[in-house]
Amino acid sequence: MPATVIVGAQWGDEGKGKITDLLAQNSDLVCRYQGGPNAGHTIIRANERYALHQIPSGILYPGKGCVIGAGCVVDPEQLVAEIDELEARGISTSALALSGNAHLIMPWHVALDSASELRLGRLQIGTTRRGIGPAYADKAARLGIRVQDVLDEKILRQKIAVALGEKNLVLERVHGMSPIELGPLASRMVELAERLRPYISDTSLLVDRALRDGKRVLLEGAQGTLLDLDHGTYPFVTSSSPIAGAAATGIGIGPTRIDEVLGIAKAYVTRVGEGPFPTEIEGADQVRMRELGGEYGTTTGRGRRCGWLDLVALRFAVRVNGITSLALTKLDVLSSIEALPVCVAYQLPDGTETTEFPAHQSDFHHARPVYETLAGWLEPLGPDPFPARAREYVEYIERAIEVEVSLVGTGAERDRVLSRHPLAALPRVA
Ligand code: GDP
Ligand code: IMO
Ligand code: MG
Repeated sequence: MPATVIVGAQWGDEGKGKITDLLAQNSDLVCRYQGGPNAGHTIIRANERYALHQIPSGILYPGKGCVIGAGCVVDPEQLVAEIDELEARGISTSALALSGNAHLIMPWHVALDSASELRLGRLQIGTTRRGIGPAYADKAARLGIRVQDVLDEKILRQKIAVALGEKNLVLERVHGMSPIELGPLASRMVELAERLRPYISDTSLLVDRALRDGKRVLLEGAQGTLLDLDHGTYPFVTSSSPIAGAAATGIGIGPTRIDEVLGIAKAYVTRVGEGPFPTEIEGADQVRMRELGGEYGTTTGRGRRCGWLDLVALRFAVRVNGITSLALTKLDVLSSIEALPVCVAYQLPDGTETTEFPAHQSDFHHARPVYETLAGWLEPLGPDPFPARAREYVEYIERAIEVEVSLVGTGAERDRVLSRHPLAALPRVA
């Protein structure tokens, strides 16, 4: 049985959590393959809001397997808090499996993330300050502490002591910060290790077995295509690879096991944090869009920057992910906007126009959006009837990106999704 990747097609917060939760009801295993607590995936069920950060968005279904893969970075303190919160709300986490190869976000990573942003000042990336960059940097430098290291107290204490020797020098001498004390940290980590122990397993093997047994597997991306370390708007990106190709490495299965890539895109665009954003709306209209869409970060509470739909960037996302169908979320937010500009090309500094995403950063930084304006609709988005102009908006996108829109989001609640022909086979909310 094949695996399906769910990937953000913009700058994150496209509604991946909600769509993953929707598809999870007809799946057996839901896996996160990269990122960490920088993610915030919202699911709204029976007026209750769940904000998941490290745990996959399949957890609300009793008994569904949920995997945190090797490509993730895990903040143990935060993960235990997330587990406890879910359990307190009656959601069992007994089917959660955590890869021993995932790397741990340690307190020095969080401290260094903030310190680095402060140092950058005006040039800051606007990170979530969850320690993501420093943790992935240590992983690449082969200095990281992995989840499996917590299984042996002696190794754990030794690794923390060695790491702190260097990190405290940097914290104190470079950033003028207080050092982290070894004793209390090591003791706390030993406590957390006991909490994590029951969840740690060989998740590559687990996913492989599930696929061999004909189970349906969802691979849930965090962040989004334009935040990809290799293909996004570097340096204003995250430190992992959210794109679909990374799902195989992040889980530890071969790319031949994946046969569907569902891209998730908002019917407009948001970005949180710094960096270029060609279709960003100016002034009061941006504020209006933010309020209409409730565009405040799930993880940091920051107001998200809002812009018109960017079809150049969306076509790029189709390309680098191999998107086979698209879920277009938050179309309801556009109801009541009379005229809807969509960006169909960029004008570059030399005056030429392109419909391809610029390969050179300076071109992208200076790209001016070329808009076509589509007629809006004033009616709410019911399934029956579905406003003709909303249908035209969706069909315009399908033509532009040459991918079918299989799902349309019409509200934040779990069941506010329309499944569109010809993909009626996709699961519907019960
Ligand atoms: P994620 O990080 O991709 O999972 O997305 P977030 O959860 O950070 O942000 C998406 C927000 O939009 C959440 O508050 C969702 O509840 C909400 N949402 C998702 N789909 C829809 C939709 O179709 N319509 C509306 N109005 N809200 C939606
Ligand atoms: P989900 O999974 C939106 C952004 C940050 C910042 C940049 C780098 O909810 O879609 P980091 O903390 O990763 O080093 O920050 O990436 N960012 C996100 N933006 N949604 C996310 O996750 C994000 N995770 C990180 O705002 O610009
Ligand atoms: Mg989010």
